[in-house]
Amino acid sequence: MGYKEQIDISRLPQHIAIIMDGNGRWAKEKGKLRVFGHKNGVVSVRDVVEASAELGIKYVTLYTFSSENWNRPRLEVAAIMELMISTINKEIGRFMQNNIRLNAIGDLEMLPEKAYNELTGAIKKTEHNTGLVLTLALSYSSRREIVHAARSLACKVQRGELKPEDINEETFKDNLYTDGMPDPELLIRTSGEYRISNYLLWQIAYAELYFTSKLWPDFRREDLFEAIVDYQKRERRFGLISEQLN
Ligand code: FPP
Repeated sequence: MGYKEQIDISRLPQHIAIIMDGNGRWAKEKGKLRVFGHKNGVVSVRDVVEASAELGIKYVTLYTFSSENWNRPRLEVAAIMELMISTINKEIGRFMQNNIRLNAIGDLEMLPEKAYNELTGAIKKTEHNTGLVLTLALSYSSRREIVHAARSLACKVQRGELKPEDINEETFKDNLYTDGMPDPELLIRTSGEYRISNYLLWQIAYAELYFTSKLWPDFRREDLFEAIVDYQKRERRFGLISEQLN
């Protein structure tokens, strides 16, 4: 029996976050330039997103470009931005066909103008789609997101819109970039690294973590199904004991 058949559709995670890692190493193993790895990483993105939509997953959030990634060699940064533009351009038709809504989180104003315009244009085009919400974390840093939330709450207090005693987990959550999204129940990281790398630190408080040694361009729908099957075998206790859950 394949992994897909083992999935209990009634207990799917609503939100899956993915740290897509290993594109560079994948290309190097093949004696190619790093960009070749990113290009093949896009094929995995398409496969995993479409498989998620087919299953009925509501949210997929991909760590596409971190704030730290701006420090990579200039040519690699430019190539990733170009790839993002061409991918969005190519995929928009499939997003519409598959009822996928595109979304983005991060310091988007840092993006080159062309990438920013392509992205925001596609977000606008898909805004009425009601299926899977595909969020790209771009120029994203979770610590910055948290600082940004603290700052916007402070401004609201200063303007008299909010009392300091009204700041709680709920109001804090509402000021994160992920406002309106449920927290991810499952976080997947590829490439055999066991790190969170400044990704969704607040939101993954209770997420199940799944690490695989597969490099991102090799991670396809069957690997996603395997991760979901593994997730469904786990007992999510939220600080309680087993007996309290039944
Ligand atoms: C991590 O591998 C990958 C990235 C930083 C870039 C991911 C971008 C894409 C797959 C293309 C994005 C396009 C869309 C529209 C989603 P790495 O380069 O850190 O690999 P390494 O650790 O082996 O060097």
